[in-house]
Amino acid sequence: MERLNVMEMFHGISFPGHLHTQDSLQLALKFPFQESDILIASYPKSGTTWMQELVSLVLNRGDPHLSHTVPNWARAPWLEQHYFPSLLKSPSVTPRVITTHLPFHLLAPALQGSKTKVVYVSRNPRDVAVSFFHFHKMAAFLPECGTFAEFLDQFLEGAVCYGSWFDHVKDWTRGADTQSNLLQITYEEMSRDLRGAIQKVSSFLRRPLAEDELSSCAKHCNFDSMKDNRMVNYSLIPAEIMDHNKGAFMRKGKIGDWKNTFTEEQDQLFDSVFRSKMKGCALEFVWGD
Ligand code: A3P
Repeated sequence: MERLNVMEMFHGISFPGHLHTQDSLQLALKFPFQESDILIASYPKSGTTWMQELVSLVLNRGDPHLSHTVPNWARAPWLEQHYFPSLLKSPSVTPRVITTHLPFHLLAPALQGSKTKVVYVSRNPRDVAVSFFHFHKMAAFLPECGTFAEFLDQFLEGAVCYGSWFDHVKDWTRGADTQSNLLQITYEEMSRDLRGAIQKVSSFLRRPLAEDELSSCAKHCNFDSMKDNRMVNYSLIPAEIMDHNKGAFMRKGKIGDWKNTFTEEQDQLFDSVFRSKMKGCALEFVWGD
């Protein structure tokens, strides 16, 4: 399925038609979650692939065999994408690890009453915007996005694929501290203390790790290991779909890279939109090292 120039509009949000159909999106909303499922939820470019790798390694007690032999999209397939049913492990294999970029309000009915463990990953939105902009340049299934200034306007309006970052983060994390089956974790936490983040996830998933297993997880999901791992760096995807001459999926992996792109004026614009849209939201973000 190519459909590189097709966009699917679904509940007011556009999704790349190369990966999504109306049917696949509709099916996601009715997915029968099981108690043993693990759901990784995130807005794009927030560290999704990193968390897929981290969870895989935790479940395999630091053994990198699967990480080195099975692509991330097959180990933790995206619920809303059209290939999901063919990739989902048989129901008898547990736990199933599933990924989603859908906003909370669309999945809430399917998740309601289920004890599925949800790991929500967020990242400071200035870095998300810059990373997403670069991803548009290499991913042929995303629309032309013009200059960074033009892209930033669309990002701030929530007019990009996958919708508004602000709504996504606010809705998924609202009341997170009272929900025992939701772990909220940030890209910046993972970046500053990877071992601590692995321990946090392993204890949430009730998969305690021995010291050497923890070290192995940290070794295999650091930026350099993942950048060289063809099962997660998307180099398996043909150039017509992701052009690796136009950029790398594992691009910089840094906190605060936005400072190399934003102008003073863009920073001020961002700040005013951020303040108004995040009013009343207790979340705090780390903007630089
Ligand atoms: P940059 O473009 O800023 O480098 P997602 O998987 O949600 O699409 O997120 C992709 C972003 O996460 C990219 O950010 C990528 O480099 C970064 N990333 C992936 N694995 C990482 C790791 N192990 N350490 C640091 N950053 C990582």
